[in-house]
Amino acid sequence: MKQNIKHIVWHETAVQKQERQQRNRHGSCILWFTGLSGAGKSTLANALEHRLFKQGLNSYVLDGDNVRHGLNKGLGFDEDDRKENIRRIGEVAKLFVDAGVIVCTAFISPFAEDRHRVRDLVQDNEFVEIYVRCSLEACEDRDPKGLYKKARTGEISNFTGISSPYEEPLDPELIIDSDQLSIDESVDKIIAFLQERNYIPEKIES
Ligand code: ADX
Repeated sequence: MKQNIKHIVWHETAVQKQERQQRNRHGSCILWFTGLSGAGKSTLANALEHRLFKQGLNSYVLDGDNVRHGLNKGLGFDEDDRKENIRRIGEVAKLFVDAGVIVCTAFISPFAEDRHRVRDLVQDNEFVEIYVRCSLEACEDRDPKGLYKKARTGEISNFTGISSPYEEPLDPELIIDSDQLSIDESVDKIIAFLQERNYIPEKIES
């Protein structure tokens, strides 16, 4: 164990999560978008956030491609690095929940165990798993960044869906079939869920 690490003591905060939520007039939670690369996680997370933001709600997007430029720069795509990627994002997302924010995370997060670990970090109703479902064929067809092509030729290794597994969520709170629903329809579905479960107020314009 590193020197002195055992001498770190938790400091209670002066302002509590509930106080922040009361002032915001809405709950805070993690909306955990998971799915294959190209399934539409980032597009959907951003479209949803835009809708929430326009309504004056406190929200934020943590996106795999962006976070890997900063906080998680240097992490690769083998199993250990993906685990560490998700662990850090889980901890950051938990801080956002504590700050009273609806945080939308868009990470492939291919391993069920890693996703469960994040779920266990927060309270029961604070983790909403949204499976952005799209067939590998459709994702590969879209190939927005040309990465599937490179994965097929072997230029990129450990590519999810090609040379690395994706474990489908078995019991997600929501499934969005991104090859069947439009972005607006998908956002409507998530907003309806958030309203039904009282995360956000009923009156929210579309
Ligand atoms: S995760 O598996 O660790 O959750 P994350 O969501 O952060 O992945 O990053 C995925 C993004 O990194 C993909 O959308 C893609 O743009 C890019 N990427 C680069 N190499 C790979 C790879 N080997 N497997 C999957 N995605 C990759």
